[in-house]
Amino acid sequence: MVPIATRSGASVEAVELDGIDPRIVPAHVACVMDGNGRWATKRGLPRTEGHAAGELALFDVVEGALELGTSWLTVYAFSTENWRRPAEEVRFLMNFNERLLIRRRDELHEKGVRVRFAGRTDWRVPRRVQRRMDEAVELTQRNRRLTLTFAFNYGGRAEIVDAVRALVAEGVRPDRVDERAIRRHLYYPDMPDPDLVIRTSGEFRISNFLLWELAYSELVFSDVLWPDFRREHLFEAVREFQRRDRRFGGVEA
Ligand code: IPE
Ligand code: IPE
Ligand code: MG
Repeated sequence: MVPIATRSGASVEAVELDGIDPRIVPAHVACVMDGNGRWATKRGLPRTEGHAAGELALFDVVEGALELGTSWLTVYAFSTENWRRPAEEVRFLMNFNERLLIRRRDELHEKGVRVRFAGRTDWRVPRRVQRRMDEAVELTQRNRRLTLTFAFNYGGRAEIVDAVRALVAEGVRPDRVDERAIRRHLYYPDMPDPDLVIRTSGEFRISNFLLWELAYSELVFSDVLWPDFRREHLFEAVREFQRRDRRFGGVEA
């Protein structure tokens, strides 16, 4: 039987999470943090206020992941398609990323969180923003309690294209191209596939997130807009995950 997930970190006694079986907590949770704009519009605020409010949600979910003992948390922060948004919103998101890293990196480091970024480096990402990203990665690189990966200027198709390019550049023979070879050239070959992918805001789509990696992920969709999402919603998604029957193409024993 394929283990559905591994538990790591926190002791069973230390965690009081009603209805969650600590032995089958998802090792990797990935979130499409969606609905910031609608959250703000509903309140008569500019969309950017929704992004700002999303910070609280993110850090509550990080706390929740630490409580659960999940080892990997990946969040979709900016897609390769989000450049299509108004220049002012794109500028806000870039600067917000920088300010968030300045505000939060020490806190993340103290909690034992390793920060990473998955995505394409791009001339449109301001140099000083890139510098903050590099600093956060360097500061936290030896932490192992939780790996928090920001999918930033990330596209699932771009990631596969980049992997194929790397293979071609290495001169790999066609008959040596297999799934393992492609995986080795993804942005983080050491990152396990997500067990659970959560999308907020009532949208039922993937929007180019982790296309290769989510082949067998359990998908949970929530109506909650991202700025209102809290660890309780994460726990609810984990309960839903634990009710699922993962077969990976096989049949019940
Ligand atoms: C998600 O919220 C955040 C980013 C894409 C950066 P949106 O900005 O997509 O919010 P909605 O979907 O328009 O409400
Ligand atoms: C996906 O949300 C990207 C992020 C959450 C960063 P979008 O809001 O960009 O996706 P669509 O446009 O609704 O598919
Ligand atoms: Mg959206």
